[in-house]
Amino acid sequence: MGFILAAVGSAVGLGNIWRFPFQAGAEGGAAFLFVYLGFIALIGFPAILVEFVIGRRTKRNPVGALKELGGDRWKYVGGIFVVTGFVLLSYYSVVAGWFFQYFITGLFEGYTATTPEELGAAFGAASSGTSALLAHAAFMIAVTGIIVAGIRSGIEIAVKVMVPGILFILLGLAAYGAFAIPEASQAYAYYLQPDFSVIAENWQTLLPAAAGQAFFTLSLGMGVMITYASYLGEDRNLAEDAAVIVSLDTFIAVLVGFVVFPFIFQAGADPTEVGPDAIFVSLAQAFATIPGGRLLGVVFFGMVVIAALSSAISILEMLASYLIDEFKWERPKAAAAAGLAVFVLGIPVTIDLVFLDLFDGLADSVLLVLGALLVVLFVGWVIPEDGLDELTTGVENIGSLGSIWLWAVRIPIAIVLVISLYLGATGYLEFLADDFLGWLNG
Ligand code: PHE
Repeated sequence: MGFILAAVGSAVGLGNIWRFPFQAGAEGGAAFLFVYLGFIALIGFPAILVEFVIGRRTKRNPVGALKELGGDRWKYVGGIFVVTGFVLLSYYSVVAGWFFQYFITGLFEGYTATTPEELGAAFGAASSGTSALLAHAAFMIAVTGIIVAGIRSGIEIAVKVMVPGILFILLGLAAYGAFAIPEASQAYAYYLQPDFSVIAENWQTLLPAAAGQAFFTLSLGMGVMITYASYLGEDRNLAEDAAVIVSLDTFIAVLVGFVVFPFIFQAGADPTEVGPDAIFVSLAQAFATIPGGRLLGVVFFGMVVIAALSSAISILEMLASYLIDEFKWERPKAAAAAGLAVFVLGIPVTIDLVFLDLFDGLADSVLLVLGALLVVLFVGWVIPEDGLDELTTGVENIGSLGSIWLWAVRIPIAIVLVISLYLGATGYLEFLADDFLGWLNG
């Protein structure tokens, strides 16, 4: 039970609540949702099992695990995980700081902005400058403190409160949208009715976007699930545990869409133009208009900060355990050094949002997909017998499902990931050449 709670704590976070709605909006709503759900079921689920089998087989951190099973050169894959972790956590913490500020606003002032201009100004104030920097610092201090102290039971309690709490508020807001927002039906049409000709036309952007979002939200591609599964008993059925984690995580993300899109349509905004401000703008508006909104808002934003903490902890734990194992540092020193490095790396994001695109694009479109591809190839081709044996440990009878999983991992999944990585990397290079160079040149 502790394992499921920790894994859910890692998976459920800003990926579901902040990143999913604006990815879905920007990539065409239903077209994205359709490709994303397909990706989660056909690739995300088998891929989480890949990390689980490595972790439980070796009971070690990702670097040690890959080295033990595959020999010395596989430890460099662990090096990729570490780079990904630093980059991802640096902006993750900044965005968590935005939620923290909305929580503070609700606590001391309440939510008053209702027009697009006011909502935009409030987001601008929270997302850059001194307050963004301070909130980023506060978040990293909290994450580092928890890793130094090594508090495990706290996380389990937090997850037990936070997940039902978030679900409850989201369901309430979704119901409010359905009954009280006249534009809701347009919103649902945008979110739920895929146009297959659009999918066929845009698959080259939909596929890498769905891949990146799927790995981000399931905490895959950087060894976090390897680490967590290393604490797992032989009696657990890995596929069952994975199914629980994947369904819960996906349910929460999809539900966020049901909340955010009605508000976006009500405000008359163009859903394809939404960005990282989508959840803030739509929910701040909701909490300003709904009766009892202030209290709901404080509770909701507070719980999202806890959800972000339980995800960030899983990343910093991976980074710290690498420093502990590889350089034989003491735990407090390792955690503090990693936490400080992450904080410094995140500072540019508090100055200009172009750095959010720079870091998120690198981590999400390139590094996570690369990491996931490498572990998929590793289990599929380097240690297939170990992999299959571990998958079936603790299971009474899964018939041919095990070998179907192995063959899916070996060929079709590996191919889709190669294509996703190629498209994601070329898209990122285009961003660098156009947007980022353009920004540098003023
Ligand atoms: N899955 C987390 C979220 O959705 C983020 C995360 C990514 C955590 C990768 C660990 C590793 O917020």
